[in-house]
Amino acid sequence: MRKKIVAGNWKMNLTLAEGEQLVNDILAAGINLPEDQAVVIAPPFPYVQKVKQLTRNYPGIFVAAQNCASEKSGAYTGEVSAAMLASVGIDYVILGHSERREYFSETNAQLAKKIDQVLANGLKPIFCCGEPLEVRQAETQNAYVAKQLEESLYHLDAEALKNVVIAYEPIWAIGTGLTASAQQAQDMHAFIRAQIAAKYGREAALGLSILYGGSAKPSNAAELFACPDVDGGLIGGASLVAADFTAIIKSL
Ligand code: 13P
Repeated sequence: MRKKIVAGNWKMNLTLAEGEQLVNDILAAGINLPEDQAVVIAPPFPYVQKVKQLTRNYPGIFVAAQNCASEKSGAYTGEVSAAMLASVGIDYVILGHSERREYFSETNAQLAKKIDQVLANGLKPIFCCGEPLEVRQAETQNAYVAKQLEESLYHLDAEALKNVVIAYEPIWAIGTGLTASAQQAQDMHAFIRAQIAAKYGREAALGLSILYGGSAKPSNAAELFACPDVDGGLIGGASLVAADFTAIIKSL
């Protein structure tokens, strides 16, 4: 059975001391994760090792980076490779967040290379997809997301795909307070799963965790997570508040 996951993307927020406090508060909340549930915390690069250290005795709690380089190693000043992240014990890497696509011009083709780096180093990508508002208004979101999947993931074989997590984050819902309705989320998640089934078969599709992201919060998490194809959430703002993040985890 596929994993249910709540992942917290801190984005470019918090000092180290604030981050430590947040992690300690989350751990103090006494979350009991059954076998089929996982929590992923994605702090900024300088804190990943510290967060890994703080959470290492908590089974079911994992650490993610928010990005990594598309190249293996070498003269790429300012970049962080997947091999480096693996060497400090990181578990997941968020790739293709819409903020990376929009502000740092990441393309589907470049993300395919990042996916390969992450998988080659034994890490799991959390691959983000999702449409901007004008695409949703034109009702062409399915074709838009299908193209993202095709151009960044479909070079993988079925074995490699088992290590991939997909996060559907409609751009119009990120940080806006405007959440996709449970029906909108379910429709897109079911569409993504059907696409994966068409390409990789039914078993691969049923094993794939697909997370929803975009203004998820304690008040709407339970309804979103109750949708049959929504396997948890990728949480931004609410992951910075221990009480909110733990409430969302408990909604799983
Ligand atoms: P918000 O939860 O702040 O809308 O952000 C979602 C997100 O981008 C998570 O990656």
